[in-house]
Amino acid sequence: MSDQYGGVSTPAPKKVTVPDLIAMKREGKRITMMTAYDAAFARLVADAGIDVILVGDSLGMVVLGYPTTVPVTMDDMVRHAAAVSRGASRPLLVGDMPFGSYQAGREDALRNAARFLKEAGMDAVKIEGGREVVDTVRALVDNGIAVMAHVGLTPQRVAQLGGFKVQAKTARAARRLIDDALALEEAGAFSIVLESVPAPVAALATERLTIPTIGIGAGAQCDGQVLVLHDVLGLFGEFKPKFARRYAEIGAAAVEALRAFDRDVRAGAFPDDEHSFAMKESELRSLQRSLAQQKAS
Ligand code: KIV
Repeated sequence: MSDQYGGVSTPAPKKVTVPDLIAMKREGKRITMMTAYDAAFARLVADAGIDVILVGDSLGMVVLGYPTTVPVTMDDMVRHAAAVSRGASRPLLVGDMPFGSYQAGREDALRNAARFLKEAGMDAVKIEGGREVVDTVRALVDNGIAVMAHVGLTPQRVAQLGGFKVQAKTARAARRLIDDALALEEAGAFSIVLESVPAPVAALATERLTIPTIGIGAGAQCDGQVLVLHDVLGLFGEFKPKFARRYAEIGAAAVEALRAFDRDVRAGAFPDDEHSFAMKESELRSLQRSLAQQKAS
């Protein structure tokens, strides 16, 4: 964009694309991904220079107050994803297909994935699962929808898995995970999340795949890393997953600020003149006169 009278203009930062991520793997550049669920935080994530924003179905747990991601609906996801795309455009935007939005068949999956692109401004979708979702991934990709896969701990299956547990801990399970990842790559996925798997398993998968791996609780050898925004910013009291690093204590700072507001209001110290609207002295006197006349009559 150029300034009206010339001079130095700042070009808009270039949008991150799917081919950019594949090139980053080839060039050995690490990829950063962060979740966001609304326009305000999406803007902050983009301002930080993060490559990819995932509108995760972790929405259910960190924003909507559910104990798992299972109750999250397509309408929940589309509403929040649309807010994210209004707040940030430079990062690649990925919408997470919630439980029940792709299991019933290809047509359902296509219809729901298309909603992310058409109604919410997402660039791609993410789907949890291994070989059982390969056909779905292929159908989406064949119809022009970029898909990020997700294996290892797949929280939508939390009941089957018996909790949020580390996966692929045996040679057999690890081999299955790597084979699943290769099948998803072959089906056209452009990237794959590896969640809660031993670091050496993630390293072996990363070495074998040509598409980038994005780890969460999967060690340092993945091509990129993703964390949940609320874990990174310390928005939840004491809860801290082993794999997450807190880079700030925003939750504690927020409580401190809210306590100060509570104190000031109770003490009559807020609002002060600086935060109040004045009125012309003549208008005020006229108002007082009219009120006094009304009272007298
Ligand atoms: O829903 C989510 O936030 C995710 C990430 C944890 C990868 O799937």
